[in-house]
Amino acid sequence: MCGIVGYIGSKDITSVLLSSLWKLEYRGYDSSGIAVIENGELKVVKSVGKLMTLQEKLSKERIEGSVGIGHTRWATHGEPSDHNAHPQTDCNEKFAVVHNGIIENYYTLKEKLIKRKHIFQSTTDTEVIAHLIEENYNGDLKDAVLRTVKKLEGSYAIAVLSPYEDDKIIAYRKGSPLIIGVGNNENLLASDIPAVISHTKNIIIMEDDELAVIKRDTIEIFNQKGEKKPLKINKIEWEPESIEKGEFKHFMLKEIFEQPEVIRRNISLRIVDNKLNFGDSFRFNKKELSNITNIVIQACGTSWHAGYIGKYLLEDIARINTEVDISSEFRYRNPVYGGETLVIAISQSGETADTLAGLREAKAKFLKVLSFVNVMGSTISRESDSTIYLNAGPEIGVASTKAFTSQILNIYLFTLYLARIKWRLEDEEINEKFALIKELPDKIKVVLNNNERIKEIAGIFKDKKNFIFLGRGINYPVALEGALKLKEISYVHATGYPAGELKHGPLALIDKETPVIAIATSSNVYEKMLNNLEEVKARNGIIIAISNMNDEKVKKIADYIIEVPYVIEHLSPIINVIPLQLFAYHLADMNGRDVDKPRNLAKSVTVE
Ligand code: AGP
Repeated sequence: MCGIVGYIGSKDITSVLLSSLWKLEYRGYDSSGIAVIENGELKVVKSVGKLMTLQEKLSKERIEGSVGIGHTRWATHGEPSDHNAHPQTDCNEKFAVVHNGIIENYYTLKEKLIKRKHIFQSTTDTEVIAHLIEENYNGDLKDAVLRTVKKLEGSYAIAVLSPYEDDKIIAYRKGSPLIIGVGNNENLLASDIPAVISHTKNIIIMEDDELAVIKRDTIEIFNQKGEKKPLKINKIEWEPESIEKGEFKHFMLKEIFEQPEVIRRNISLRIVDNKLNFGDSFRFNKKELSNITNIVIQACGTSWHAGYIGKYLLEDIARINTEVDISSEFRYRNPVYGGETLVIAISQSGETADTLAGLREAKAKFLKVLSFVNVMGSTISRESDSTIYLNAGPEIGVASTKAFTSQILNIYLFTLYLARIKWRLEDEEINEKFALIKELPDKIKVVLNNNERIKEIAGIFKDKKNFIFLGRGINYPVALEGALKLKEISYVHATGYPAGELKHGPLALIDKETPVIAIATSSNVYEKMLNNLEEVKARNGIIIAISNMNDEKVKKIADYIIEVPYVIEHLSPIINVIPLQLFAYHLADMNGRDVDKPRNLAKSVTVE
């Protein structure tokens, strides 16, 4: 939540800060602002509303300078407004601060600061940081920041700018992400790589409790005691174009259409000479995994749905007892762990606060943690014992699409790996499955080729106010995912249900106004699903069915059919979710929704 940027160098300061902020708008978009040192003075420009309003404001006044910071906000403390937008400043406008995260003890700090005659302009938690730095400044900004963070509780990333020391930006990370882009006679700071990739591919990923002093031609990293640490520079492999929309109207649509390539990339990285390879970040040895008797998967939102699919796979193929829980529940319950338990955390961003807290809970109980993460070097991956990366490339649309299908594929591959270790599958059986997996990219393309028909069907239902998504077995979580996609980007109410549960209550919702989207592809519960659809039909429900090609039985019951190619049941979620992603996309777009940046949401949820 919230995006931070910083720049020091000789390029046009407002355009660099703005273009970096545009790349981070997915992290929050209710207000934004920048601070630049212009002729020895701190110049702050902020605006409530989307980044475009700040851009319009900035187009009317030229700001000159070579060092600046910027912010795009997702409000936690204080409503979105000009005053609450960041940068926040101290009483004398000598220190500007941008912040991502939450200062949990801000109220107590603020009361004390007010008693000491500080005057507050905002209702944010962030402003206390600027006032504390003001008090702690004694001619050394680095020192003032180090003394300030000692008083802060919570998780945060901050960047600080002051005309007293106009040759640097000071950054501090504790719990929220920060990276430094290492340039040539210029350096950048950001919450995420897309903000700097068009300037440099050399990145330093800051760790918790590190302070950075970023100057034009030097970068120094210190620990919280102020001791210098060595620099670790990573080279980013992906190209700047991967974060552009290209010919697509929205990132979400682009990311849906990238899925054949994402799956193909994972296949070529993971299946090498008919052996599974999860890369260097996978550090478990076969011996420790062969002892696993229980698995607990914890994640949020779409990643939780992928985890739910994982439960079906791990139990059915590897025969390992698997629980799946929403992280915000998992972290506060007191589970009983039996036998050798492996905890799995799943996260696209690798920064989700609840998932991270669940991981830390597990580690505190000395359990092993494996994570499935998309963003390299993110906190969840760094704190896990092992990580399997998703290789989905940057996912910018708030609605997760390609990360979901690569989560399912990687969990499926890990399941095969475990099944082999535990002698549940022979090499030959695994090779047969590899052959089926390799057919996936082309089969996904077949679904994507049906885009126009899916759009047509979405058009028919674009004014409906309620939708029910039904699935059974491994496709029940896909129904949940279809409902989540629709509600988060179209703001239409949708609920996902296991079809067998309909008669225990939700059947009362069925009437001719409520479309039912049902996943009715080949499976061990296919006939059961048809019975459930008959129950809907008998109550005048309108059925949109996802079925395999030329399925005459489904055709007789459903009002609308979206055909998808046949794949084995265990892989079917990867195919079946794609029409649901497209359906949600088109329905939201036709209703004029801001598909990539739906209201009230942000891409990475770094607050509880
Ligand atoms: C997905 O479309 C959502 N925007 C959201 O549910 C997301 O999946 C959830 O916040 C978890 O994020 P993560 O995968 O980055 O941990």
